[in-house]
Amino acid sequence: MASIATLGSHCALQVLKGAKDEGFKTILICEKKREKLYRRFAFIDELVLVDSFLELLEQKCLSVLNENNSIIIPHGTFISQMSSEQIESIKIPTFGNKWILRWESDRAMKEKLIREAKLDTPNTVSSPKDIRGLTIAKRHGAAGGKGYFLTTSEKDYVQKRDRLISQGLIKGDGDLYLQEYHSGVLAYLQYFYSPLKDEIEFFGVDRRHESDIDGIARIPAAQQMEMDGIPSFNVISNSPMVLRESLLDQVFSMGERFVEASKKLVSPGMNGPFCIEGVYDENGKFTTFEFSARIVAGTNLYIDGSPYTSLLYNEPMSMGRRIAREIKQAEKNGSLDKVVT
Ligand SMILES: Nc1ncnc2c1ncn2[C@@H]1O[C@H](COP(=O)(O)OP(=O)(O)O)[C@@H](O)[C@H]1O
Ligand SMILES: [Mg+2]
Repeated sequence: MASIATLGSHCALQVLKGAKDEGFKTILICEKKREKLYRRFAFIDELVLVDSFLELLEQKCLSVLNENNSIIIPHGTFISQMSSEQIESIKIPTFGNKWILRWESDRAMKEKLIREAKLDTPNTVSSPKDIRGLTIAKRHGAAGGKGYFLTTSEKDYVQKRDRLISQGLIKGDGDLYLQEYHSGVLAYLQYFYSPLKDEIEFFGVDRRHESDIDGIARIPAAQQMEMDGIPSFNVISNSPMVLRESLLDQVFSMGERFVEASKKLVSPGMNGPFCIEGVYDENGKFTTFEFSARIVAGTNLYIDGSPYTSLLYNEPMSMGRRIAREIKQAEKNGSLDKVVT
């Protein structure tokens, strides 16, 4: 039987708990500074201690993972701490499609996939000169909202960009992607696509608390005007949400279109967990500003299942556990190659 391994951050606890519940041996690649934290959890069978997650690419880690027949579960920390080349070079079977992670990291490729899936998406602003209405400047990769900012003119953009450069967060314009800002109810839609069943499962939806943009709403406009700092979109936590039932049909069809489009553009397609992130307007129309092509941390809310997984499973089903179950099923059928890359 395979074992299940991941990096110690993001949603590692959920993933390894789910793996344990499905009967797998669990392995955590753990930074030494977090050893004490992760030793608290009995469902983690083995810790491989490292100074940096990049050691995942080195022989010491690889030999432990190979000996244990490990399958790696990629999450947000892979994207934020490794380049696409490094992720693609991982020599251990990786759950889902490691090739699609490049499409998540690169905002231009990301937009292409969103358009191929016929999801409504905000217009990209191709140059600071073209900034007209409310625009958000975002960094590439899963930067978690840190250093993102709102702007309404080239002049204001340049000032804020220069401040980020002096803080060492970005090098220049090339590190920023400009997109029209859409206002409404933000929602992060969590899906799982099973290539074994050729079926999409809607797992749940969350909202995110982002600092300090969320704090701004608590401050009256007059005091906001006197503030000097640039509010960031740094994600701090997640809360559960449910959608109006009349929105669900559209949720499923968006997920299905995304899976279809990914099959066309990046073989073998969007297998496993993913998330479509966007905004509902007053008519219930959803505009997708981005996606994550792997498990998102918002699924950490639902270790005991979500309102939506309760409709699909008669037992608590987290995303981590669903991943492990897919691997278990694939092992049983001799079709592991369908669920890993
Ligand atoms: N076009 C947009 N309109 C409104 N809010 C947005 C838009 N794009 C991003 N955001 C806000 O910024 C946050 C981070 O942006 P996102 O594209 O999700 O980047 P990341 O890859 O870092 O998660 C989102 O969670 C949301 O709050
Ligand atoms: Mg995001």
